[in-house]
Amino acid sequence: MNPLILAYETSCDETAVAVVRGSEIMSNVLASQVELHARFGGVVPEIAARAHVESIRSLTHRALTEAGVHPDQLDGVAATQGPGLVGALLVGFSFAKAIAWARELPFVGVDHMEGHLMAPRLQHADFEPPAVVVLASGGHSQIVHVPRWGDYQVLGQTIDDAAGEAFDKLARFMGLGYPGGPEIDRLAASGDPEAVKFPRALADRRYDFSFSGLKTSVVTFIEKARQSGTLPPIEDVAASLQEAIVDVLVAKTFNAVEDTGATTVAGGGGVLANRRLREKMAAEANRRGVRLLLPDPILCTDNAAMIGVAGAFHLERGDYSAWSESVDPAMKLGR
Ligand SMILES: Nc1ncnc2c1ncn2[C@@H]1O[C@H](COP(=O)(O)OP(=O)(O)OP(=O)(O)O)[C@@H](O)[C@H]1O
Ligand SMILES: [Mg+2]
Repeated sequence: MNPLILAYETSCDETAVAVVRGSEIMSNVLASQVELHARFGGVVPEIAARAHVESIRSLTHRALTEAGVHPDQLDGVAATQGPGLVGALLVGFSFAKAIAWARELPFVGVDHMEGHLMAPRLQHADFEPPAVVVLASGGHSQIVHVPRWGDYQVLGQTIDDAAGEAFDKLARFMGLGYPGGPEIDRLAASGDPEAVKFPRALADRRYDFSFSGLKTSVVTFIEKARQSGTLPPIEDVAASLQEAIVDVLVAKTFNAVEDTGATTVAGGGGVLANRRLREKMAAEANRRGVRLLLPDPILCTDNAAMIGVAGAFHLERGDYSAWSESVDPAMKLGR
């Protein structure tokens, strides 16, 4: 049926609107608030919510215009229901619900992480379970086994910081910009990943992550090296800490591939934009002869097209949200 969906994502600091037809992107626009939050070194919830209010109407207009779609043609409206910042979520969710209600269209609240998980479908319509999907972003690091769409078995997750959070916190400590992931990725490209041997945590667990020990280790290393005047070039430190994060993400993902016998492995979330991670995922997938599906970096970070593709899936199954539903800032994926 490939329903035509207008989709919203406002869980954090991007106001994003898209039009998709099934898993085909018709338009995908966003207004990043990064500059508004940069001077605070992190996202300020109240500022985020207000900025969503300011840009959501014009972005809706842009998304529809670029797609060449009139609201009369829509089959449904989808929006991120959670997890995320409550005020930020409420803006997109309420706006989307109002449009759906006024136009008598079905409305679908989507789990943000299911969006990241389905994002590879936007470029590979034949992406089908069974699969193992690694989700790594600002707030989550999870290994998910997907026996069929809609059934998400979370095999492992972080017991403390998320991978993106580790990148961001370390970058902040190193005096780099916000968000830190892209900055470290850029610096690491000209650094030596073997320069400093940082720890790979929880080696004894097959799927879980821990990144807070790495943070302590990097901070201690830098402080000591500064004192003794032996600090290696910042590029080397960046490449080495990136390698530590990447190594555990890759190892745990492929533990799950091995244990489930999955022949497809996919990824989503901002950290999957990391060049070294993509490179090592590709090498490992190639070595094991499994199919690897990673969205383009722009579809790894937050966007509304991924909410649209997940929304289309639910709409086709007839599972709409009730008008009485609201956002769920602590929404949890799967079982
Ligand atoms: N090239 C990169 N290398 C490493 N990390 C990156 C890169 N690009 C983005 N990130 C990280 O990805 C995170 C943002 O991802 P995303 O937009 O999916 O997260 P979020 O929506 O804030 O969190 P969540 O999806 O958990 O709610 C940030 O922590 C950022 O530093
Ligand atoms: Mg996200």
